[in-house]
Amino acid sequence: MEKMLHAAPVHATLPECFIFPADKLPQAKATSGAVSLPIIDLSLGRDEVRRAILDAGKEIGFFQACIVVNHGVSLEAMRDMEAVCQEFFALPQEDKAGLYSEDAGKATRIYSSTMFDTGAEKYWRDCLRLACSFPDVGDSPSGWPDKPARLREVVERFTVQTRGLGMQILRLLCEGLGLRPDYLEGDISGGDVVLHVNHYPPCPDPTATLGLPPHCDRNLLTLLVPSMVRGLEVAYKGDWIKVDPVPGAFVVNFGCQLEVVTNGVLKSIEHRVMTNLGVARTTVATFIMPTTDCLIGPAAEFLSDDNPPAYRTLTFGEFKRIYSVVKLGSSLNLTTNLKDVQKEL
Ligand code: OGA
Ligand code: NI
Repeated sequence: MEKMLHAAPVHATLPECFIFPADKLPQAKATSGAVSLPIIDLSLGRDEVRRAILDAGKEIGFFQACIVVNHGVSLEAMRDMEAVCQEFFALPQEDKAGLYSEDAGKATRIYSSTMFDTGAEKYWRDCLRLACSFPDVGDSPSGWPDKPARLREVVERFTVQTRGLGMQILRLLCEGLGLRPDYLEGDISGGDVVLHVNHYPPCPDPTATLGLPPHCDRNLLTLLVPSMVRGLEVAYKGDWIKVDPVPGAFVVNFGCQLEVVTNGVLKSIEHRVMTNLGVARTTVATFIMPTTDCLIGPAAEFLSDDNPPAYRTLTFGEFKRIYSVVKLGSSLNLTTNLKDVQKEL
């Protein structure tokens, strides 16, 4: 538990293990204003929303992540979720110590720094992981934190609504892309719903480290409550775009499995997290995942003589295993190009 960053009252200096080597420092310029993520208003008519999603893609070639507003998840459910997560990290250490674990196979735990196990530099992040089994996402399993007292109820309500939104977006994507409307239902989105409550304490030297290194999410679809404190950046044409949070909105990004299913028509975008000197930042990522045994490959609708499969067909479990092995120790750039990664297998 003492390894958790937020357990220390204040960090006067950045411990050496968090300092990134010069070539991996976050200095690279990040643009804000010139280009931004498309904002999609889900309360518009179905045709209009579908068109907005596809147009966003065509116009700026940026069909990888978007911000959604008027999305049907109640503002109250989002606010309660953010509040209860902040309260969780503010609890006295003894109330959380039992949840601390370095065992990545544990469904519910708090841990620090690591993402995939690169054995390299540490990242300036603490994380609470919670998993809800599908279809019972409204029933929190035993082992979840029992403090704050309302955490279970708040997380359950939030997860049911957020998964519902994710499924709605997946259906719209299918319609827009000419897939059967229920193509992304069933096992491909029916694994556990995993929540990462990311907590980035104030950092004594934001120029020397990152909250999360560049990575792509390996699941199907991610819905992020990004906090009103900035920090998230997404890769765009060799540069990084700072994401400007919109109150009450989710940032939605496509996971590797959507890139595979669409044979690269949708891309899983690389993103990273910057830290800041002044304030803690707490975000909530909801990952919609396939079941471990689900076999995923490019859909026939995206294949032709001119478009052979660019990705292998693998079970989700296999994909995750190979993906982290190929990446292990290579570089902090955990993804670069999924196609190349798959070729190396
Ligand atoms: C993640 C992630 C971004 C953020 O949890 O995978 O990319 O801003 N989080 O916390
Ligand atoms: Ni991510």
